[in-house]
Amino acid sequence: MTAAYNEISSRLEAVPYIRRSVDEVKLAGGDQWLATLDDHMENFAGYLAETGGSIDDAVEGFVEMTLETIRLQQNFFKTGKFNTLDDYDDQADVYQDRDLMVRRYLPGLYLAQLLWKNHYQKLRFFTDRVVPEAQSADRAFDVGAGPGTFGLTLASRYPELAVTFNDISPFSEEMITALAKRKTGIDFLPGDFLKLDVTRPYDFVVFSEVVEHLSDPGAGMDKLLDVVAADGKVFFSTATNAAFYDHTIIYESVAEIRSMIKDHGFDIEFDEEVMALESGDGVDVIDYNAVIRRAG
Ligand SMILES: C[S@@+](CC[C@H](N)C(=O)[O-])C[C@H]1O[C@@H](n2cnc3c(N)ncnc32)[C@H](O)[C@@H]1O
Repeated sequence: MTAAYNEISSRLEAVPYIRRSVDEVKLAGGDQWLATLDDHMENFAGYLAETGGSIDDAVEGFVEMTLETIRLQQNFFKTGKFNTLDDYDDQADVYQDRDLMVRRYLPGLYLAQLLWKNHYQKLRFFTDRVVPEAQSADRAFDVGAGPGTFGLTLASRYPELAVTFNDISPFSEEMITALAKRKTGIDFLPGDFLKLDVTRPYDFVVFSEVVEHLSDPGAGMDKLLDVVAADGKVFFSTATNAAFYDHTIIYESVAEIRSMIKDHGFDIEFDEEVMALESGDGVDVIDYNAVIRRAG
C-alpha cells in the first residue's frame, strides 16, 4: 500500500521541507490516506500515459506550485499584493497557456489535493460528509472543475448520476476525460462560467475554489443561484487571505465569506474551517468548506 507514496517521496528528496510536510499528512492520514493515494495515483498514471506526461514532471509541477504558493503568500503578508500576473495581459490568459496548465497547474493541483494537509482534509470532508448529500441527485454540475477531483468522485460513487463539468480552460476537459473511470453519463459545458447558458438547473453543484478566480465574484454567486435547483445543494469552498497569481479577490475572514454567501441568497447547511497557513500576525489562510442551498 506504500507504492504510490514511495514513488512520490523518492522524487521529493531535493526538497526535504516539502517531503516532511507530505510525511506529516501520511502520519495523520494513516492507512486510509495511503489507500486513497494509491487509488488516485493509479488513475493519474493512466492520464499521464494518455497525455505524454510523466510522474517526474507531475511531481515537479506539484513542487513548483507549492513553492510558488509559499512565495506569493509571503509576498501578500508583506505587501498586501495578492495576484502577480506579470507574464499575462489578462488573468483569463493563464487558463489558455498549455505549458502552464498541462504541465504544472492541473497536475500540481491534483497532487496537492492528496499531498497538502489542508487540501487532504477538504477531500475527506467532501467524501465523508458532502458525497452523501448528493445521494438523491440525478444531475450534478462541477463548475471550474480543474482536474475534476470532486465531480469524478461523485461519478464513481453514484453510477447513475449524470455529471457535467465546466472549466474556462480547455485542458481541464482533456484531463477529466482521461481520469474518468466511467465514460458514459459525463459531459462538458466548457467556457467562462459567467457567460454560460444553463437552461435546466442542477440538483447538485460543485463550486470549489472557483469564486476567487472569477472576474466578477459577486456575479459568480448570482449565477450559482441560477444554476442550482430550488431543492438543490452546493459544495462550496474558498479561503481567506489566499494569494495566488490567478486570484481576483481576497476574503479577509470566514465571517466575510459567510456573509457573502447569505447576501447572495443561500443558507449554509454545514461548514468547516481548516487552518492552512498561520501568518503569525492574525492574517491567516483558512480554508472554508461548506454545503449551501438556496435560502428557503
Ligand atoms: C483552483 S482551481 C479549482 C479547481 C477545482 N474546482 C478544485 O477545487 O480542485 C480554479 C479553476 O477554475 C477555473 N476557472 C477560472 N475562471 C473560470 C471561469 N470564469 N469559468 C470557469 N472556470 C474558471 C480554472 O481554469 C481552474 O481550473
